[in-house]
Amino acid sequence: MTQDELKQLVGKAAVDFIEDGMIVGLGTGSTVKYMVDYLGERVQKDGINIVGVSTSKRTAEQATNLGITIKDVDEVDHIDLTIDGADQIDKNFQGIKGGGAAHLWEKIVAINSRRNMWIVDESKMADELGSFPLPLEVIPYGSKQLLKRLDAKGYHPEFRMANGEHVLTDSKNYVIDLHMGKIEDPHALAADLDSMTGIVEHGLFLDLVNTVIVGREDGPEVLQ
Ligand code: 5RP
Repeated sequence: MTQDELKQLVGKAAVDFIEDGMIVGLGTGSTVKYMVDYLGERVQKDGINIVGVSTSKRTAEQATNLGITIKDVDEVDHIDLTIDGADQIDKNFQGIKGGGAAHLWEKIVAINSRRNMWIVDESKMADELGSFPLPLEVIPYGSKQLLKRLDAKGYHPEFRMANGEHVLTDSKNYVIDLHMGKIEDPHALAADLDSMTGIVEHGLFLDLVNTVIVGREDGPEVLQ
């Protein structure tokens, strides 16, 4: 199976966890895109009644086009389950997100959810985090100075650019990727990044997720 087929597999499997009446956090990325397609089918064909809380403008647009009701995170009083993708997950379910520059909104939705699930193809599972660059959403003002401070710490920072322009998040911030290679202590790194002025949010998602569906050749594997 191709990586794309594995993404499709877990996207479909995840929809089985969504029940009628739920308020569901909808992540961002190519894997979630499949999940939202299948969810749209269930809403249209089976008539299930759910409310989605989107983690990006992209997902909100896709869901709305499929007939899924979308509310803002501040318009709901709880979120039952959030289903999102991830860029890298270690054996303790700690993860890196933000490859799609959406990790700020994704984390806001995740911390406000009763339950969080990640859906990934098997290439995302790793013994330790760090070979995937760690994204930071940063305020544009002073971001070159911030880059220097991150560099001085040995974090190997690089602005994320596309066609010579800064990639902008949905909140119109910049993204800096840290090419760490290996993250020995994710909690210590998260605490350090949390303390740095100018960083709005980093892509380390720690102690947030209790279910991961991994797309494997022989089918989706649910890890809990
Ligand atoms: C977006 C994310 C995505 O969930 C992550 O990048 C995985 O994306 P994909 O499913 O396309 O591999 O964190 O900010």
